[in-house]
Amino acid sequence: MATPGPVQENLMLEPNKPRVLLAASGSVAAIKFESLCRIFSEWAEVRAVATKSALHFVDRSSLPSDVILYTDDDEWSSWKKIGDEVLHIQLRKWADIMVIAPLSANTLGKIAGGLCDNLLTCIVRAWDYKKPLFVAPAMNTFMWSNPFTGRHIEIINQLGISLVPPITKRLACGDYGNGAMAEPSQIHTTVRLACKAQTFGTGSPCVMPSSSNPV
Ligand SMILES: Cc1cc2nc3c(=O)[nH]c(=O)nc-3n(C[C@H](O)[C@H](O)[C@H](O)COP(=O)(O)O)c2cc1C
Repeated sequence: MATPGPVQENLMLEPNKPRVLLAASGSVAAIKFESLCRIFSEWAEVRAVATKSALHFVDRSSLPSDVILYTDDDEWSSWKKIGDEVLHIQLRKWADIMVIAPLSANTLGKIAGGLCDNLLTCIVRAWDYKKPLFVAPAMNTFMWSNPFTGRHIEIINQLGISLVPPITKRLACGDYGNGAMAEPSQIHTTVRLACKAQTFGTGSPCVMPSSSNPV
């Protein structure tokens, strides 16, 4: 993971690389977040966001060295007074594409309801839907088949969020069924194919802070 330090000038020197914001919420599938970061890093400039629950599953020290991971703590430590940059707005402007993988039932419900009580959901609430946003849900089969899930998926569809559907297999909890996160390679392929025709990295240079809470 990227080394700590004061606010770091991160001028975009690779104009054609897409800027992908990868976000993890609190599903056990977040153990695959490191793999997701590595795969996307081969194609894109990657920044990462994790919810408080996701941090139980993400091994921060295993993330690629150039990937900065932002958490709720960074949102508040980087803001002290009026005039300071607001991290969720900076990240939402920085990103060409956002991918939430895994998407927990809780974060799905919050996005569908318009709630924004952490860094991840604030970025989504402030998202510009002219830019692609993908989600890869991951949850227990009964959570996935719960009537709320269908309603929430319908709403995020209407918002223009693209779904990378879950797959059927033996889940971490021991149950067998649908609800497991699509494999990181599948998520990467889906995003790349969907964004094939787009040009990235032509916007203004961005100044991004480093994470205040590194390994
Ligand atoms: C060991 C463990 C595994 C969990 N796995 C999942 C999961 O796969 N999918 C899910 O939606 N919630 C799962 N949860 C529940 C979420 O972590 C919980 O709803 C949490 O509030 C999600 O927070 P977040 O959406 O802010 O990340 C799990 C909880 C625990 C303790």
